[in-house]
Amino acid sequence: MQRPRGTRDFRPQEMAKRRKVEQAMRDACHRFGFGEVVTPTFEHSELFTMRSGQAIVDEMYVFKDKGDREMALRPEITASVIRFYVNEMSTLPKPLKLYYVGNCFRYENPQSGRYREFFQIGAEMIGTKNAETDAEVIALAVNCIRAAGLENFVVRIGHIGVLKALVNGQIKEKDVAAEVLRMIDKEDFDALGEVFDAKALPRSLFDKITSLAESKGGVDVLDNVDRSEATDHVKEIFSILKLYGIDDCQVDLGIVRGLDYYTGMVFEIDAPNLGAEKQILGGGSYTLSELFGGEPVFSTGFAIGIDRVVLAAEAEGQIQVAAPLDAYVIPAKDDMRKYAFGIVARLRSQGLWADVDLMRRTMSKALKYASSAGARYSVIVGKEEMAKRSVVLRDMQSGEQKTVLADDLGREIRDASKKA
Ligand code: HAM
Repeated sequence: MQRPRGTRDFRPQEMAKRRKVEQAMRDACHRFGFGEVVTPTFEHSELFTMRSGQAIVDEMYVFKDKGDREMALRPEITASVIRFYVNEMSTLPKPLKLYYVGNCFRYENPQSGRYREFFQIGAEMIGTKNAETDAEVIALAVNCIRAAGLENFVVRIGHIGVLKALVNGQIKEKDVAAEVLRMIDKEDFDALGEVFDAKALPRSLFDKITSLAESKGGVDVLDNVDRSEATDHVKEIFSILKLYGIDDCQVDLGIVRGLDYYTGMVFEIDAPNLGAEKQILGGGSYTLSELFGGEPVFSTGFAIGIDRVVLAAEAEGQIQVAAPLDAYVIPAKDDMRKYAFGIVARLRSQGLWADVDLMRRTMSKALKYASSAGARYSVIVGKEEMAKRSVVLRDMQSGEQKTVLADDLGREIRDASKKA
């Protein structure tokens, strides 16, 4: 039996790294006053088909449940959070600051960094619409990525209003306009040219679009395009981000985003060392609540691809995890087994990560096992030690050994870990 294509199994060593990265990003969310929410892994498929855009709908895992209802495995979590808000949280004081961690499902062509089941951490700030909100959300995103240990990343900020106003204003056929925006999102300007030729759209519009889509760089890029509310808004975001100590973001007016619900600021973060699947974060401001039966409310949010952040942090050599075991207890002979169980139980009750030989291995094999299990120390229990209520503590890296009283063992291991 093989696992389904595009899914993964994770070993304990990998999970230790993933959890470390995830926890660092969770901590950042709490530092910004965001509280965690959890929503279902599957929803009525309509939740996602209403406004997510064709690209997402085409990739959705959809199935009928036993009651003949059409369900979908969530391709993202924003729509679920807003549904939850409309259902149960709309009367709470604003802004609501919510974050989530969960698996998402998209039927994509799997490759490195692109999976059919992947993991996101995301945040949504519901109830405000201003540059302060957008800047706060971008600042959280940057803090998450920094907390994960990444040093090499690029933050690009744009405004969907600029390109959308141009494209939707000039191209009246809705599906053609949507197609054009999709090509811009993919930065596939050859295909865009073909659409323009096939639909006999004016070349001057093509030139205007490509020049806007290529408006990238420092904040002064905004001085080279027609001034609008959107460009002023982006400028304001940049000036607030500076106050947050974030001054290395770029303007990118070509950001379209694969999802259709954005209405204002949009932003993405790339980790250039990841190659093709380098986008580690996407987000922006949007409205969805009115679609789900609520009052219209503005929100800003983002989602980070945890898998990609882990890959990028690994590539930078930034993930150091603690040893999986503090101590591995080895009875030298069968007579010492009971004493050894008492020792391991005590270490565990002191909060240490401890294990004991359950296979009745010889000393040399047990030491080999302790080393392959990644134990920092072996705790060897011989006849003499048992008689003196002590043990031999062996540092698995240096091979140094010393005799320690059983009463002092936990403290000894803890102190040594602090020094290391
Ligand atoms: P998204 O850009 O579709 O946005 O996904 C966010 C991130 O999830 C991507 O930047 C990428 O790192 C990761 N990701 C997406 N698809 C895959 C995949 N197949 N394999 C691995 N990683 C993947 C959203 O999902 C929006 N809900 C973001 C948002 C929140 N906007 C407002 N609030």
